[in-house]
Amino acid sequence: MGKDKLKRFEENKSFRCLYQPEFEEVFRKDHFMKGKWNSDHFKNSNPIVLELGCGRGEYTVALARREPLKNFIGVDIKGARMWRGAKTATEEGLLNAAFLRCRIEFIEWAFAPGEVSEIWITFPDPQIKSENKRLTSPAFIERYKKFLLPGGVIRLKTDSSFLYEYTLDLVNSRDDLLLLEANDDIYGSGRADEILSVKTRYESQFLAQGYKIHLLEFAQG
Ligand SMILES: C[S@@+](CC[C@H](N)C(=O)[O-])C[C@H]1O[C@@H](n2cnc3c(N)ncnc32)[C@H](O)[C@@H]1O
Repeated sequence: MGKDKLKRFEENKSFRCLYQPEFEEVFRKDHFMKGKWNSDHFKNSNPIVLELGCGRGEYTVALARREPLKNFIGVDIKGARMWRGAKTATEEGLLNAAFLRCRIEFIEWAFAPGEVSEIWITFPDPQIKSENKRLTSPAFIERYKKFLLPGGVIRLKTDSSFLYEYTLDLVNSRDDLLLLEANDDIYGSGRADEILSVKTRYESQFLAQGYKIHLLEFAQG
C-alpha cells in the first residue's frame, strides 16, 4: 500500500465525523449508530440526507455548506477517498456533515426505519454486467426502503445513459416508486441549478470527455 494511503488511513482515525465500522459490526447486525445519528452525532432533529458511493464526498460537503438545516452523511467503502471529504468537513467545522465507511449492501444495519429523508446517488459504476451490484437495482431499492421516510426522495446523477434508462424503466414499472423528474442533459437543458451544478470528481472527468449528465428524481410512494 502507498505511503499516502497509509497516512490517510491513519488520519481517518482522528476524524470525529468519520465512522468506520468493522465488518462484524454491520454484517446482519445493527450498528451502534442506527436510529441515533441525530441524537448522538448531529445533536439536532434535522432531516438526514445520504450520498451513496460518495467517493471524496464533494456533494456531502457542498450540500452541508449550503444547507445548514439538514444533516448529510456520505457513504462509501473507500477510506482513502472519503479522507478528502472528512478532512474538509473537519477543517471547515461543518458539523452537519459526516461519513460512514461501509459497504452499501450493509446499509440497512446502519439506519433505522424513517431515519433518512433523501438519498443522492452520485455517479455510481453502472455495473452493466451485474444487475445485483447496481446501486439502483431492485435489491438496493428494497434496502433503501427500509430506512427512507415515506415520500422520501432518491436522486441519481449519472453520465451513463445505460444506468439512466435502466433506472427510469425500473421506476416506471413499479407502483411503490413515483417518478418526479427525468432529465437526460441537465447542463444542455439549463436544468442545472446551484445544487445540481455541484460537480464531483467523476462528473468533472465525464464532462471533460463530452458526456451528458443525466438526472433522475423519484420518491418512495
Ligand atoms: C465511480 S465512483 C463515484 C464517486 C463519487 N460519487 C464521484 O462522483 O466522484 C463510485 C464510488 O462508489 C463506491 N462504491 C461502489 N459500490 C459500492 C458499495 N457496494 N458499497 C460502498 N461503496 C461503493 C466506490 O468505492 C466509489 O468511490
